[in-house]
Amino acid sequence: MKVLSVVGARPQLVKLAPIAAALAAGGHRHVIVHTGQHYDADLSDVFFSGLGIPDPDVHLGVGSGSHGVQTGAVMAALDPILEMERPDWVLVYGDTNSTLAGAVSAVKLHLPVAHLEAGLRSFNRRMPEEHNRVLTDHAADLLLAPTDEAMRHLAAEGLADRSVRTGDVMVDVCLRVRDSVLAAPGDVPGLPEGIDPERPYLVATLHRAENTDDPARLGSLVDSLADLPVQVALLAHPRLVARAEAHGIKLERGAVRPGRPLPYAAMVAAVLGSQGVVTDSGGLQKEAFLLERPCTTLRTETEWPETLAGGWNELVPDPGALGSARWTATATRPAPTVSRGTPYGDGRAAETVAAVLAERVRG
Ligand code: UD1
Repeated sequence: MKVLSVVGARPQLVKLAPIAAALAAGGHRHVIVHTGQHYDADLSDVFFSGLGIPDPDVHLGVGSGSHGVQTGAVMAALDPILEMERPDWVLVYGDTNSTLAGAVSAVKLHLPVAHLEAGLRSFNRRMPEEHNRVLTDHAADLLLAPTDEAMRHLAAEGLADRSVRTGDVMVDVCLRVRDSVLAAPGDVPGLPEGIDPERPYLVATLHRAENTDDPARLGSLVDSLADLPVQVALLAHPRLVARAEAHGIKLERGAVRPGRPLPYAAMVAAVLGSQGVVTDSGGLQKEAFLLERPCTTLRTETEWPETLAGGWNELVPDPGALGSARWTATATRPAPTVSRGTPYGDGRAAETVAAVLAERVRG
């Protein structure tokens, strides 16, 4: 079997790592196409080297742009590659503009498309990721769903016969890296300057358009982080840095110490060393859950509702509205004692994905 993966943004590289390993272990051919949506080394190269992913076979070098420009540029650049490779499967990952572009290019060339992490829904149609997920699921031939909830969403949209529950490949990579971090304890590399890892700290990230693009919203979220009585290691995505600068919002104040995004193993070590996580990232909500740290999510909804059970994750759309005491109590709450179960599978999802793809190759 020949699989062509289209990836481009940081979370896709994390998911690519176990898939690349499972395809190699199964003796399958795997062509990796990097769209170039993320181009900073912090968001791209360190994931290839850190997670042992083979270098991309093709780099489209598309870069940043408005949604239409970025999505269209990926599609235009992909056409000749897909025509030349004619893989058995085009595999697209998650919910970025690169995901949608890969799916649409492939279906238009009548190439079979599989969507990894299918069926997630926020039901918030203002999010670019929600457009990307819904459109990709409806374009794809095979929907690889991480959870029972995702399977229910797909069934509700009439897509049950194309859907398979595989478990979540992020569990594969997160647990493997956790074990290697715990086997060699030491300093947490890359924490922002000014964070004392011997004292309690929270890991924070903020990058979604709905939180970064409106100056009043971004200013109030940073105010709330700054007011916390524990250190806040704010691992700043370039989008956050760019928007904060454009809006004249200072990130380094009060409890907040901004730093660069971390490579995957350093992020796992940072979360394991922390008291908890405050984020708007989907991946980090789940990593906190898997690493047994309480998470506070700065959004009105989550695509990973399983993390909410037992209070492991709490949604706080507007920390400023909670009042300082309640906000502090929520963000710094101890880890719940309730068992989390294994809603995301057993850490062998990538093997299942490779097997399902191989079984369903069109003759
Ligand atoms: C994208 C995904 C989002 C995902 C996130 C993970 C879409 C619509 N959004 O958001 O779902 O959670 O990736 O990180 O696809 N920039 C750089 N260097 C880079 C990349 C981006 O400086 O390597 C800056 C630029 O200012 C750019 C901005 O970040 O304009 C936004 O980048 P973009 O790729 O549009 O979306 P992300 O916010 O990264």
